[in-house]
Amino acid sequence: MAADATTFTPLVLSDRINAMQESQTIAMAKKARALAAEGVDVISLSFGEPDFQTPQYIKDAAKQALDEGYTFYTPVPGYPELRQAICDKFERDNQLSYKPENIVVSTGAKQALANAVLALVNPGDEVIVFAPYWVSYEEMVKLAGGTTVQLMGTLENDFKVTAQELEAAITPRTRLVMYSSPCNPTGSVFSRQELGAIAEVVARNPHVHVLADEIYEYINFVGEHASLAQFAAVKDQVITVNGFSKGYAMTGWRIGYLAARKEIAAACEKLQSQITSATCSITQRAALAALQGGRSSADVMVEAYRRRRDMVLELVQDIPGFRTATPSGAFYIFPDVTGYFGKTTPTGETISSAADLAMFMLNDAHVAAVDGGAFGAPNCIRFSTAAADEKLREAFLRIKTSLAKLR
Ligand SMILES: Cc1ncc(COP(=O)(O)O)c(C=O)c1O
Repeated sequence: MAADATTFTPLVLSDRINAMQESQTIAMAKKARALAAEGVDVISLSFGEPDFQTPQYIKDAAKQALDEGYTFYTPVPGYPELRQAICDKFERDNQLSYKPENIVVSTGAKQALANAVLALVNPGDEVIVFAPYWVSYEEMVKLAGGTTVQLMGTLENDFKVTAQELEAAITPRTRLVMYSSPCNPTGSVFSRQELGAIAEVVARNPHVHVLADEIYEYINFVGEHASLAQFAAVKDQVITVNGFSKGYAMTGWRIGYLAARKEIAAACEKLQSQITSATCSITQRAALAALQGGRSSADVMVEAYRRRRDMVLELVQDIPGFRTATPSGAFYIFPDVTGYFGKTTPTGETISSAADLAMFMLNDAHVAAVDGGAFGAPNCIRFSTAAADEKLREAFLRIKTSLAKLR
């Protein structure tokens, strides 16, 4: 029988891709979808996605853009009028003054983050990541050949790394510091005072840049959003990343941006020009309308997120062994679940990690959540609260019933 040529063709993937992990949040969502396809009634609290539709005025702007013929390549860093509107947003919301040359619009905040990491980090450089951190930070640093140094916040300190801890971790090889505030997965929010102390440390270390991920800026229950770039002494060292996915419920549209000193912005533009070019023209026109419409549509969603956070915190109080901080922003709760380690399931398996517990909850309660290992916090589990009230209530009641079966 003739050999099938494809059977014998050796497949060699790059070391770079072999070293990379699949996003755990996406992996968990896939498992939940597979169970649902078998007919199981799964409640998925694994994805970081608003359950709201994009506001109508933004959708209308996209339709209008199509009708007006916005179907061509745009400048790589985005339409000038969109970059100007982003500057106006920084002025209005953050009292930060930027010019369009400081702004690069990308295919999601995710690409903005990746652009900055790849533009700044050399192989062998250290990148300090405040943990728990958003899943993709570590893999982006790996892709650039850098090494992450994790600084772990504690539940007792609302998962916030302090300026002193940062100072102690900086070495001559530190190139970048990365964090999100409001934070995914913990929901903690740095205060102006805390950022002020961090700014002092950063100013003393001019070889260090900071990637401040502010994608959850609008989803803030404590009121004031502070930006590290607001501290004049470090503004040139800070790259601020933001986007439309969370505040304007525009995850599928794929648009985010960064603001940085013009040399860094130009480097990100160069990188983007060789990989993806600009993001979609229609999306950019919709984003322009989103900004021109202000933030009142976000305020409505934030009220819902706050209500759900409060409801979930109350439901969680009823679950022994879940220890959780009160999130100040974003739409997650991130309980420490070590109280369940060492317990046995009805089928005789021992729970020895948050990953085991997340798997037990998926199989027994049919609730999908992501184990904290994906965020550098293997004692915790992340639940998204961006789901309808009834779904959240039902999910935590199911979890309570299932966890009571552990001995
Ligand atoms: C902290 C954080 N940064 C960045 C992103 C990426 O957002 P985008 O959809 O704009 O790529 C997310 C999305 O989940 C996030 O949670």
